Amino acid sequence: VKNHKTHCYAYKEKPMNIDALLAKRTRNMETNAIREILKVVSRPGMVSLAGGIPAPDSFPMAIIGDLTAAVIARYGSGAFQYDATEGFGPLREALSGYLASLDVTAAPGEILVASGSQGVLDALGKVLISRGDDVAVEAPTYLGALSAFNPYGPTYLRMDTDENGLVPESLEEILRHHSVKFVYLVPNFQNPTGRTLPLKRRRQIARILQENDALLVEDDPYRALRYQGKDLPPIHSMAPDNVIYVGTLSKVFAPGLRIGFCVAPSPIRRWLVRVKQGVDLHTGTFSQALAAEYITSGSLGRHLPRILDLYRPRRQAMLRALQDHFPPGFAWSRPEGGMFLWVSGPAGMDMETLYEPCVRRNTAFVPGKYFYTERGEGVETMRLNFTMANGNAIERAIATMAEVIRKGV
Ligand SMILES: Cc1ncc(COP(=O)(O)O)c(C=O)c1O
Repeated sequence: VKNHKTHCYAYKEKPMNIDALLAKRTRNMETNAIREILKVVSRPGMVSLAGGIPAPDSFPMAIIGDLTAAVIARYGSGAFQYDATEGFGPLREALSGYLASLDVTAAPGEILVASGSQGVLDALGKVLISRGDDVAVEAPTYLGALSAFNPYGPTYLRMDTDENGLVPESLEEILRHHSVKFVYLVPNFQNPTGRTLPLKRRRQIARILQENDALLVEDDPYRALRYQGKDLPPIHSMAPDNVIYVGTLSKVFAPGLRIGFCVAPSPIRRWLVRVKQGVDLHTGTFSQALAAEYITSGSLGRHLPRILDLYRPRRQAMLRALQDHFPPGFAWSRPEGGMFLWVSGPAGMDMETLYEPCVRRNTAFVPGKYFYTERGEGVETMRLNFTMANGNAIERAIATMAEVIRKGV
C-alpha cells in the first residue's frame, strides 16, 4: 500500500506533458480574441457594444411553451430520437419554403442542417482545406470563420473591400493568379463592418466565379434583419453551381438552439454529410423539430417584425449618438440592417488604446484589427454592436467613448 501511495504521489508531482500530445493542427487554434474581450465585459454595469449576439428579448419566449407542446403532439418520442445526419425531414421541408422566400431555390433533399452555421463552416474546412491551400477572405472578415478554417492550415488571400463590401476586381485579380479552394464572403450587413454588397457587384461576382470555375461560400446570417431599404438577391441565385449558401436561424429564432443549414452543390453535400456523421451524427432532433414548428406554424413570419422593431431604434440611436458626440475625423458605416456598425478613426490612430479607458468607464467595444488576417491592418477601426443595449445605454456609451477620444486616458 505504502509503495502504491508513493507511486501515486510521484505521478502527481510530474504531470503528463499534454503539449507533446497535441496534434499539429491544434496549434493553429488561436484563442478567439473577442471571446477574451467578452469575458471582461460581462461584469455588471458594463454597456457592451462589443458582443455579436442577439438581444435575449428578441427571442419568442411567449410562444416557446406552445411550440414545445405542438412538437410533442406532432412528433412524440420521434423528436427525441436519433435522426438522419442530413437533418430532420420536416425541418428540411420547412427550410425549403423559407429559403424560397429568400430567393434561394433548394429542394428539401438539397438542404443540410448543421449545428449552427458555424457547424457548416467547420465542416467545409474539413472537406475542402489541406494545409497551405489558398482561401480568399474579405479584409476584414468574420473571425469565427477564421477559427473554423484555421485548424486545417489554409493560407489566406485577402480581398479588398470598400464601403460597398468586396471589390469584385480584387476577387478577379486573386482568381487570375491563384488556385483558390474557395472564396468566403458575407454579402449582407457583414460581420464586422455592417456593409452590404450592391446588386451590380453581386452580378459581377457571380460572373467572375463562373468564368473562373471558382467556389463561393456565401455566409448569410443577417439577411432577414433588414430595417430599411430593399432586399437583395443572394449570389447563389445568380450562380447556384458555384455557391454554397450558408444560413442560420440564430438571428431570427434563438442561437442556443444551434440551427444552421447550407445548400451546396451535390458532390460537396455528400462529403459534408460524411463529415457530420463523424462529428455529431446529427444536430439535436428536438431543436430541429422546434425550428420546423416555428417556421410552419407561421410564428417566424409573425415574430420577425418584432425583432426588427426592437433593433431598428437601437441602430437609429447609435447613428444619432455617433453624429452628436464623435469628433471630426471619424467615419462610420450606415447599415440598413444586421447588428454592427464599423467606425474608422483618423489615419495613424490605434483604437486599442481606447479600449482600457473605455472599459474602466463601463463601456466596451471591439478593436477592428482583430478582424484582419494580416497584422497591422485596421488598427484605426472598431466594431460596434447595436442590438444588445437599449437606446439610452447606447447613447451613454457613445458619449463616453467620445469623451475618452477627446480627453485620452
Ligand atoms: C458571419 C457569421 N457567420 C456565422 C455565424 C455563426 O452563427 P451560428 O453558428 O449561430 O449560426 C455568425 C455569428 O455571429 C456570423 O456573424
